[in-house]
Amino acid sequence: MKKINLAVVGATGMVGRTFLKVLEERQLPIENFYVMASSRSAGSTITFNGKDYIVEELTENSFDKPIDIALFSAGGGTSEKFAPIAATHGCIVIDNSSQWRMDPEVPLVVPEVNPEDINWHKNIIANPNCSTIQAMVALKPLDDAYKIKRVVYSTYQAVSGAGLAGWQDLENGIKGEAPKKFPHPIAGNCLPHIDVFLENGYTKEEMKMVEETRKILHNPDMRVTATTVRVPVFDSHSESINIEFENAFEMSDLLAVLEKAEGLVVQNDCYNNEYPLALSAAGKDEVFVGRIRRDESLENGINIWVVADNIRKGAATNAVQIAQVIINGMNA
Ligand code: A2P
Repeated sequence: MKKINLAVVGATGMVGRTFLKVLEERQLPIENFYVMASSRSAGSTITFNGKDYIVEELTENSFDKPIDIALFSAGGGTSEKFAPIAATHGCIVIDNSSQWRMDPEVPLVVPEVNPEDINWHKNIIANPNCSTIQAMVALKPLDDAYKIKRVVYSTYQAVSGAGLAGWQDLENGIKGEAPKKFPHPIAGNCLPHIDVFLENGYTKEEMKMVEETRKILHNPDMRVTATTVRVPVFDSHSESINIEFENAFEMSDLLAVLEKAEGLVVQNDCYNNEYPLALSAAGKDEVFVGRIRRDESLENGINIWVVADNIRKGAATNAVQIAQVIINGMNA
């Protein structure tokens, strides 16, 4: 197995640290390993696989050395500036920001869903939005089986999706302190407001879900709408998804389709109180689906409840899985 040189950009952040954890767990074949962040944390030490690494400041010269793959999670502005520099130097960037996701030259990939899109990258591959990733793992097998006509997303998103500052707003809010990150208290509250509001009255998070769903499922005309809500949960996003199909289905067949889907775990015994939960999905790499039931107001429709760890499958795990597909391709 060919060993690669790998860099983590934004290694000191919430997703960055989870990159390191997932890379350790999956034992990727790494020769040289680099951790990069801003000047604020340059010089500090990070332990990876039992070895200490000094955090380097990310600069225009960071990719002068041979790096095969760089996992970026350091914000859109950093990706905008530094991903093209890395790419020009022959490094494949897997970028967790929203900067490149809708660029027609950049594949947007969930490895269980559209691994074939990795093949046409030009050294930048985008990791989708956390809420989109978990929805795709459940929707793709259903789209293949019954052809999706329309999707309605309603999300219940954890504060960890807003980084450390979001996490602290909930922790401190429980003690009665005023919020610093969110515009309103998150403790004891639901905020129908994730990312900025756009001219159409939707938030950017909602439009990311709409546009990214269409791109990943290769269906630019798919009817998709979303309401995204921040809830007082530390980890894992939950989503209620209403799906209308072109084709008729038997419930037992549809359940079998979901049971067989890669990366998806069905927890659907509601009469025994079994359904996906944020607390039990936290720390796991799979996507969990349950509350699977026919939408009785439609001819061919269902409602489902989908939960996943937003920092793992919604960010770090998905990016590391993309890296694994690339490494396997190098060794094929
Ligand atoms: P640093 O710790 O030096 O600020 P989070 O999303 O959890 O806030 O993490 C953001 C990550 O992105 C951190 O690792 C942060 O590094 C890094 N980062 C932010 N701005 C830059 C930048 N201009 N150059 C490199 N890394 C950056």
